[in-house]
Amino acid sequence: MLTALVTGSSRGLGLEFVKQYAADGWSVIATCRDPAKSPLLERVAAGATGRVAVEAMDVTDFGQVDRLAAKLKGTAIDVLVNNAGIARDDVERQRMGAMDYDGWLALLKTNTLAPIKVAEALMGNVAASGKKTIAAISSTVGSLVEMDYPVYPYATSKAALNKALRLMAAQFRDRGVIVLALCPGHAKTDMGNMAPGASVEVDASIAGMRKIIAGATMATSGSFTRWNGEKISW
Ligand SMILES: NC(=O)c1ccc[n+]([C@@H]2O[C@H](COP(=O)([O-])OP(=O)(O)OC[C@H]3O[C@@H](n4cnc5c(N)ncnc54)[C@H](OP(=O)(O)O)[C@@H]3O)[C@@H](O)[C@H]2O)c1
Repeated sequence: MLTALVTGSSRGLGLEFVKQYAADGWSVIATCRDPAKSPLLERVAAGATGRVAVEAMDVTDFGQVDRLAAKLKGTAIDVLVNNAGIARDDVERQRMGAMDYDGWLALLKTNTLAPIKVAEALMGNVAASGKKTIAAISSTVGSLVEMDYPVYPYATSKAALNKALRLMAAQFRDRGVIVLALCPGHAKTDMGNMAPGASVEVDASIAGMRKIIAGATMATSGSFTRWNGEKISW
């Protein structure tokens, strides 16, 4: 049986990754900050006849990341989905003039450092699997050329993530590990709805990204792709 591990699976895109992989017969390790406060995930797990194991993992608590990795020692993870992320709707505090630097650091920790830490902690599990794939949910907002959405913290957190993913793809190529940066589109989640105009249905976004993950090869490792298959300029 194939296994996926998804971070930030209490709601939004992460929850839909869990739903779709479980419906496809995969074994899913669904991680979230607080299982006791994740009723949507609890319901999905209850309906998945044992295929969804819920584990607590705040991705910014690196000790907790290491403890889960120790618990999962020897478990092959075919697809690691680094999905957990944060954004803020106080746009004026994310621009020069009234910048919230502590908020910026928090965004960098969650959106940039944490996915790298999770991948580092679980690299052995991924490398020991059949599919050996790490997918990170980035954003076109992090592209240096395609979009100038004027929020420094979120945009730089995803731009820096992208660069780290390129380095990771190169570093682990000889172990056969595929690394993908994906953009879900402007999807109708709590985060997506912070900005007007969310137009992409969550199920379609996840189906699209799962298709990209399923078709990934070493030739596409290190690429940046939108949910609908469009290549994104770095
Ligand atoms: N929606 C969009 O339009 C869009 C566009 C581009 C990229 N993205 C990216 O897609 C990913 C998922 O976003 P979404 O739209 O599903 O957002 P969302 O609806 O706000 O959900 C975010 C998820 O991340 C979890 N999370 C946040 N901080 C965490 C932490 N420290 N540890 C563990 N889990 C944490 C949240 O858990 P709690 O329930 O505990 O808060 C929640 O499950 C993010 O990386 C986001 O940047 C989204």
